[in-house]
Amino acid sequence: MSETKTLRHRKRQLGQFLTPPETARRLVSDFEFTVSDRVLEPSLGCGAFILPLIEKFLPLYNGPIPQRLDQILTQNLYGVEIDGELLEACLASIEKRWGYRPARHNFVLADFFLTTFPLPFDYVLGNPPFGGTIDPAIQDKLDRELGRRNGLKIKKETYAFFLVKSLDLLKPGGRLRFICSDTFLTINTMQGLRRLLLDTGAASIERLEVFSDETKYAMVVLDFAKTGPAASVMVDGKTIPREQIALTGNHSWQISDQYAPYFAGPKLGDFLVATSGMTVGANALFVRPIVDGKLVEPYEFSYFQEPITLKREIERARLGLIAPRKRAEIVQQECLGETRRNIRVASRREPMEITLPHPDYCDYNKASRALISTPPTHAIFWKDAGDAVLTFKRNGNWYLYGVGGQKFFGREGLTWQLISQTLNVRHLPPGCILDSGAPCAFLREGVPPDELDFILGWTLSPLCLRLLKDVINHTKNIQGKDFERLPYPFWVSVKVKTEVISRVKAILGEAQAGRVFGWGDAEVLAVGEMFERIG
Ligand SMILES: C[S@@+](CC[C@H](N)C(=O)[O-])C[C@H]1O[C@@H](n2cnc3c(N)ncnc32)[C@H](O)[C@@H]1O
Repeated sequence: MSETKTLRHRKRQLGQFLTPPETARRLVSDFEFTVSDRVLEPSLGCGAFILPLIEKFLPLYNGPIPQRLDQILTQNLYGVEIDGELLEACLASIEKRWGYRPARHNFVLADFFLTTFPLPFDYVLGNPPFGGTIDPAIQDKLDRELGRRNGLKIKKETYAFFLVKSLDLLKPGGRLRFICSDTFLTINTMQGLRRLLLDTGAASIERLEVFSDETKYAMVVLDFAKTGPAASVMVDGKTIPREQIALTGNHSWQISDQYAPYFAGPKLGDFLVATSGMTVGANALFVRPIVDGKLVEPYEFSYFQEPITLKREIERARLGLIAPRKRAEIVQQECLGETRRNIRVASRREPMEITLPHPDYCDYNKASRALISTPPTHAIFWKDAGDAVLTFKRNGNWYLYGVGGQKFFGREGLTWQLISQTLNVRHLPPGCILDSGAPCAFLREGVPPDELDFILGWTLSPLCLRLLKDVINHTKNIQGKDFERLPYPFWVSVKVKTEVISRVKAILGEAQAGRVFGWGDAEVLAVGEMFERIG
């Protein structure tokens, strides 16, 4: 890696998006501190928050500047930074500004997650790392300490764990102000964090229109007072009551009076069960594009018995760790010369052309932007119920062991693109193997088949997209759980529902006969418009 690339990589790993000084100054300006206040900046960078904080404390002391700085930096301000260069830059800025390099201070060069403090804080302020990497050696320990609150999971993401640890360090009645990514406002995996905030104090969120050139992520300022369970949160000046938040299922903080009524009835999850698909781990070995009803197979597959060795098992294990008992078992297997069945993939001398359908291949449902229906674009080698792929996965690294959505393979349902700004839903024909890039949903037992058409019609409406993107998950991801949490259009009359179903059947028929539909097509727009607003 070039030096610049390594630097950029390290910067990203540490989530180093420094706050512009004027923004930090503004975020500190309204606090009224006292000499007994203890303030923590848990990832101080080069001191964007530290300098204005010092300015705030200086007038509270008398005497020469060096003496006052020493008092502030030993009694009031505490900080942690993992990057020595940045911490040094912070101290240099203090020296440049006040002509004195503090002899004593409470700034430590350390990992915040491994730092302990004897007393709690009145304030925690800063901009914790976002999207950084948590040291793999301490991930499991941190997961045990910070990964669960009030019975809910906290996502193993640097800013979420920074927030949880900071809340723990805050005195009752204490204040926290963080710049952080706006992702925690809606996404399902941040539900535990939202619940924790709501259950511990008063939270208020303001969007930061402009943060910095260093990142394109949308950022917000979270203002929090640890005052006990709250009845609401404030988002961009609007009060969002706890009851409305609870309606959404994922405790979204982007619900509003306008949208709440739609969430008061059944959800799509009452009719369908959504699932992710499988990650093959090496699509090039097993997945082929379909061209004119044919594919070209460059490989042949055979099976062999591979000796089990501790070395290989360690390579495959998560973080290279194996529990002592399992380790002993593997050592014994190795000593006894035990083997495991594995697959060998070899190039054919001549690639083989295969005409579909073929008993050894199944359609493979990869992500597509297509609406309504599209012919399969790929097929997967699936001889003997996928023996080759499943054997390959079983012998791969730990994260390949699971087979996402396996029990739904082959069923008819709906499917959509996992990563998209629009909800591109299409009919999933029976017989497909599912890929993780295209989540799917299948009717629950006993639900009439027509509901599949009705729900497909609902996904064509602008209202459905708004409820998804404005309330349930505002990021580009559209997970199965997000789909299940969409309101079921209970407000549509039976007459309109019947009409929607018949129109969707007609559109689907045309799409299956080869017509390519887009969002602008009159038939699509007409179906979308049938899901009129409540009231
Ligand atoms: C988003 S930057 C913000 C820095 C500073 N608070 C500011 O507002 O400019 C996050 C900082 O966290 C530091 N950092 C990352 N992981 C850390 C950890 N585990 N412990 C302490 N600091 C960490 C990074 O080096 C970086 O300086």
